[in-house]
Amino acid sequence: MANTAELTVDGKSYSFPTLEGTEHEKAFDISNLRDQTGYVTLDRGYKNTGATKSAITFLDGEQGILQYRGYSIEDLAAKASFLEVAYLLIYGELPTQEQFATFETSIRRHTLVNEDMRKIFDGFPVNAHPMGVLSSLVSAMSAFYPDLEGSKEDTTDQHIIRLLAKMPTIATWSYKRGLGHPMNYPKNNLDYIPNFLNMMFSLPVEDYKVDPVVAEALNVLLILHADHEQNCSTSTVRLVGSSQANIYSSISAGISALWGPLHGGANQEVIEMLEDIKADGGDVSKYVDMAKNAKTTGFRLFGFGHRVYKNFDPRARIIKKAADDVLSKLGVNDPVLEIAKGLEEAALHDDYFVSRKLYPNVDFYSGIIYRALGIPTNMFTVMFAIGRLPGWIAQWKEMREQKEPIGRPRQIYTGATLREFVPIEKR
Ligand code: SDX
Repeated sequence: MANTAELTVDGKSYSFPTLEGTEHEKAFDISNLRDQTGYVTLDRGYKNTGATKSAITFLDGEQGILQYRGYSIEDLAAKASFLEVAYLLIYGELPTQEQFATFETSIRRHTLVNEDMRKIFDGFPVNAHPMGVLSSLVSAMSAFYPDLEGSKEDTTDQHIIRLLAKMPTIATWSYKRGLGHPMNYPKNNLDYIPNFLNMMFSLPVEDYKVDPVVAEALNVLLILHADHEQNCSTSTVRLVGSSQANIYSSISAGISALWGPLHGGANQEVIEMLEDIKADGGDVSKYVDMAKNAKTTGFRLFGFGHRVYKNFDPRARIIKKAADDVLSKLGVNDPVLEIAKGLEEAALHDDYFVSRKLYPNVDFYSGIIYRALGIPTNMFTVMFAIGRLPGWIAQWKEMREQKEPIGRPRQIYTGATLREFVPIEKR
């Protein structure tokens, strides 16, 4: 029997249908709230508001559960390749060998970027942040691949391949240009992640050999970042796409939203914070105290806290374990790893963090691994974007297939009420 939620306001009672998802999440359907009651809801930051129904990713913040299309993140990180997970997120099922071969070959054959796009690169200052370059170049793809909306046949799958194939190339070009190094071309004889690493680190003056430890660590990190239901950047991609804007413009907007230090930009902030703590003598308790007095110090422990996880972020648990493993395999001894562990220990024994259920999130340890892999700090959030791209694409595709209406939230107006205009000569 369908349940209803009863609301009594201004002496009248109203019923609203409730619904329950496959993982037993419950919602009130308030699609007709304003028509029925004249009221809207107010929910700053949408902390309690479901924007859509989705079959892509399930996460349980209390239990610390994360699943892509029903597969646990732990299983996928241990057993799948990033492109397999990309296919799963976008098309809903793990690919057969034949489906994967077609998907992977299409991507391999579209990694080149139109040479005219290099002129856009040349317009940026060499010290431009790679996230700004990435967002601009992905948006520019709409100009280079204009067979978008309104074309006779559905070209979405072609654009999906182009995005997955070309984003790593664009990302590495912004890095190499910043170094003044020649920008490398992709190679069709390399798999996805080795191709990225070769474009990032190879130089024309010597051979570059991909370290399998690095490639495997990157595979795990990209899988862990691949989707996360209706987070800030994904909601941005959906909102922009809901106006029928093309996929490149929607993804470009998502990249911009991810850049923020409260979101994907936190992984860069974490390393900079850990470096500051190291330079300041490594006294983690001083920084825990500063974070506890955030209202006066304005200091936040980046990499801690999460809108949904009120338990350990399952991705952080995997990354923390991988950090020890990867650094020892690579023979890297990074003092900030010990500082990070000390900071985590101090915070998780402090009531301020425990009472607010602030645990390490995906960004807390990821930068330590990226750094050990040779990825520079200003590329950390670009790595997050490369990982999140399949999730953004999957969510955009689902939004379009579900024919979601254009997103247009309401507000409570608190400004001046109607008043007469006073000509400037009288002001
Ligand atoms: C990502 O949504 C997603 O799924 C995002 C993401 C994904 O995969 O897409 O998981 C990726 O963005 C991870 C989060 C990365 N951001 C950071 O690490 C930045 C530091 N964390 C915070 O800024 C904060 O925790 C947020 C933004 C992540 C969540 O903020 P909320 O849910 O709005 O919580 P809040 O800001 O209202 O904080 C609640 C309380 C406040 O204290 P009081 O007002 O109750 O006194 O906790 C405090 C906050 O001051 N608090 C922190 C803190 N985070 C929250 N205090 C110190 N250090 C922190 N990091």
